[in-house]
Amino acid sequence: MHFEPARLVARATLVLRDNDTGSLVTAAPKLYPHMWSWDAAFISIGLAYLDVNRAVTELNTLLAAQWADGMIPHIVFTDDSDYFPGPDRWGTGSAPQVPSGVRTSGICQPPVHAIALRRIVEIARKTSQADAELAERFARHAWPALYRWHRWIVRHRMPDASGLVSIVHGWESGMDNSPRWDEPYAAVVPGPDLPPYTRLDLLQVNDASERPSAEEYDRYLWLIEQMKRVNYHPDEVVRRSSFLVGDVFTTAVFAVAGDTLAGLGEDLGADSGHIGELRAWAARAREAVAGSVHPETGMARDRDIRHDRWLGTESVAGFAPLLCGGLPADVEKRLMSTLDGPDWSGNPHLLAAVPPSVSPSSPEFDARCYWRGPQWPVLTWLFGWAFEQRDWPRHASEFRAQGVHLVSDGSFGEYYEPFTGKPLGSTNQSWTAAVVLDWLCGVW
Ligand code: SER
Repeated sequence: MHFEPARLVARATLVLRDNDTGSLVTAAPKLYPHMWSWDAAFISIGLAYLDVNRAVTELNTLLAAQWADGMIPHIVFTDDSDYFPGPDRWGTGSAPQVPSGVRTSGICQPPVHAIALRRIVEIARKTSQADAELAERFARHAWPALYRWHRWIVRHRMPDASGLVSIVHGWESGMDNSPRWDEPYAAVVPGPDLPPYTRLDLLQVNDASERPSAEEYDRYLWLIEQMKRVNYHPDEVVRRSSFLVGDVFTTAVFAVAGDTLAGLGEDLGADSGHIGELRAWAARAREAVAGSVHPETGMARDRDIRHDRWLGTESVAGFAPLLCGGLPADVEKRLMSTLDGPDWSGNPHLLAAVPPSVSPSSPEFDARCYWRGPQWPVLTWLFGWAFEQRDWPRHASEFRAQGVHLVSDGSFGEYYEPFTGKPLGSTNQSWTAAVVLDWLCGVW
């Protein structure tokens, strides 16, 4: 089955409407019945095409859950109890930073929010004067909250000389079970006092091999126990967590989102001192991303801070410098050729020429398993958006066209098997619908 653009737009609209609870759009109808931080950012972009006011509500719901210290939590829970780990298991209720009246997880996700905020303003400015005013008013209100979010990252998540933004849980990367984290996770040893649990995610997928393994889940849950023991105090978490990794992809997102927030601040007349700080933090992060590049492969690397070593996995995160810039021109050109080449988007067996989460040439590639090989439409969107910002319109439009091709079966999969195009994980995934709306309705 292959849907034409107009039908795809209609179906994407329906997905967002069906997953809408009024104040938030759940990440997916069954597998993810809550709000996820980076999902919400992408979803709000899609919502802006349907109703700018509704897009504003989405980001407002997320920002209402921002912790007092500035962290934006990775999940804002609804009342649905069909997801594990839910708020009780996270046990954030007694952490002093959590605002009253909301239930959240205790970690964060990549800071893509400023990108969404600016995109909403751009969309609204093309819609009507009233929408433009609404979006700008909201952007002025949200700007200081996003500034505090970026400041939290600088204060609490740049712990070592590499300058990379560090994560304390694979979930913080958004790429939960990527082989990027295999080495650091090998050193996470769940204690005998890990409380028992039942996974609910496996009930929602056709095949358990599309999801992380039991051993991986034990480690995910054990890290939560470690954080609970220090009541989510951010510096204690970084000091104690047995998983601490400089995440080069998150660092690149932080850099490009920081510059985007700074630019938006200039546009809206925000505090010039804060704008200067955002620019300086972004520059430092960009330098850290460039500093991670392997001299031979030319790919960016994560850094296992606990064990003081670089991690050279052949994952899509290796292309992080293309998001934020900062490489010498020849190194950047080579990285772009690698992306276009046979180990990545140019692999002749791919259904759509967009990068899989892991190179099909890597021994770690697994075509069906979550972040270990499948293609993720939302990543294609992010790279395409960045290419547009970086004034590479040909690459940007190719990514949009190939992204649409990937999802044209109309099921809005969470991720796709790269050779067959089979949708995997959840269907009717909200962020997939949202990026389809931006690809097909956006003015580029
Ligand atoms: N993505 C995770 C999950 O699969 C949580 O952030 O549940």
